[in-house]
Amino acid sequence: MNVADPAALVARYARNLPRYTSYPTAAQFTDAVGPDDARDWLRAVPAGDALSLYLHVPFCDTLCRFCGCNTAVLRSADARAAYAALLIEELRRVTEQLGAGHPVSHLQWGGGTPTTLPVGTLRQVMQTIRNSFTLLPDAEISIEIDPRHLPAQYPAVLHELGFNRASLGVQDIDPTVQEACGRIQSLEQTRTCIDALRGAGIRAINIDLIYGLPRQSVRGVRDTATAIAALSPDRLAVFGYAHVPWKQKRQNLMPTGELPDAIARFEQRAAINDALCAAGYLPVGLDHYSHHADPMGIAARNGTLHRNFQGYTTDPATTLIGVGASAISSFPQGMTQNAVSAAAYARLMGETPDRLPVVRGVRRTDDDRVRAELIERLMCDMEIDLGAFIARHGLRAGYFSDDMRKLSGLETDGFVIISGQRLHVTEAGRAFLRHVAAAFDHHLEMDMPQRHASGI
Ligand SMILES: C[S@@+](CC[C@H](N)C(=O)[O-])C[C@H]1O[C@@H](n2cnc3c(N)ncnc32)[C@H](O)[C@@H]1O
Ligand code: SF4
Repeated sequence: MNVADPAALVARYARNLPRYTSYPTAAQFTDAVGPDDARDWLRAVPAGDALSLYLHVPFCDTLCRFCGCNTAVLRSADARAAYAALLIEELRRVTEQLGAGHPVSHLQWGGGTPTTLPVGTLRQVMQTIRNSFTLLPDAEISIEIDPRHLPAQYPAVLHELGFNRASLGVQDIDPTVQEACGRIQSLEQTRTCIDALRGAGIRAINIDLIYGLPRQSVRGVRDTATAIAALSPDRLAVFGYAHVPWKQKRQNLMPTGELPDAIARFEQRAAINDALCAAGYLPVGLDHYSHHADPMGIAARNGTLHRNFQGYTTDPATTLIGVGASAISSFPQGMTQNAVSAAAYARLMGETPDRLPVVRGVRRTDDDRVRAELIERLMCDMEIDLGAFIARHGLRAGYFSDDMRKLSGLETDGFVIISGQRLHVTEAGRAFLRHVAAAFDHHLEMDMPQRHASGI
């Protein structure tokens, strides 16, 4: 890699790209796919196949200025409980199509901050899930938590309800960065939250960090990574700050003049990577780190890792059902997304009984399906034997020849090694996995680059 000239490198790679949490990506969703497709695809899920469930809660206790998620502060506990009642109703509509007792291997609550739901309503939704599905005994049951606002009774309740993993937002521990982002969170708060969760029996802890925020520096992000690694989370996700002010106007409330440029982002990412590896973490895919003993580290080593909308997962399920505002579902036939705002979601749920609150999606072609698998394997394993892949899918020889030609620049820069039909992404190329995947993306050219965040 030509690190002697990071500016030239960044100039070559600083384009806006999808994160390839799915293929086709959400940029391809249109209203040509709707609730009838979701209904048909739910009915087609084979009865014995374990699936993944995702529940979305779009509320937070306070809003962070950097946040790209669709969230709002809802002061009224009754209004939050009313939203939970809609989740229960949507689960009923889903099981009506799917059939009762379907096995579930992964259950994830995300947001927003799902712990903004009053404890009693969380209990009701979990009871509905247990009554309508069969949660497998070794199912991963996880929830996203804001360490600044976890109600005291929550850790014990989460344990009682079967949760076994929690994902905590940290981002950066430097007070000047926190001030710029409107998220003040002491290291002590994070430590206390982890201790409370582990003390209650929720042993597996994930932590989110971000680089590329205003006022972040190489030294600062390295200190954050080192301090957080000392708390021994089982996994970390390290996201590049996605500056999407056309989607999230509140990002303009940050001192955007103090955003690090692409070269600084690149160096910050490398500094976090070095600090986490030095602390004994295993890099996983584009942006995750795992303790060696964590199932994600094991899956990464033995080639059974998967990619989903939340990033990476150990769950092999081919069906993911998203419930709640903006939630995305994924089926072999395609993907669907619910109405995005909580208000639009509530309106759709109220309009027609039994109708799913789906507003858009995409149907997958045969070509999409093979490219989805290829991109997923690249994002997870960082290598693929295209000859074996082509043979396994019965494709014509040379099916990916045009795509492979697009990798020549990455090859010259030492980010990929191509030998015969084998494509291998080097460790230096890990940061450019999206660029590698993009070579196989047949929708990208038609896509508007502004719809994605920076690829570096
Ligand atoms: C739903 S939030 C996490 C849970 C909880 N609400 C919290 O903030 O602690 C999921 C994660 O998305 C990441 N995130 C949010 N906005 C982002 C952005 N604009 N760019 C990159 N990552 C972002 C943050 O790392 C955040 O922790
Ligand atoms: S980072 Fe978490 S707490 Fe902050 S606004 Fe986003 S979802 Fe809410």
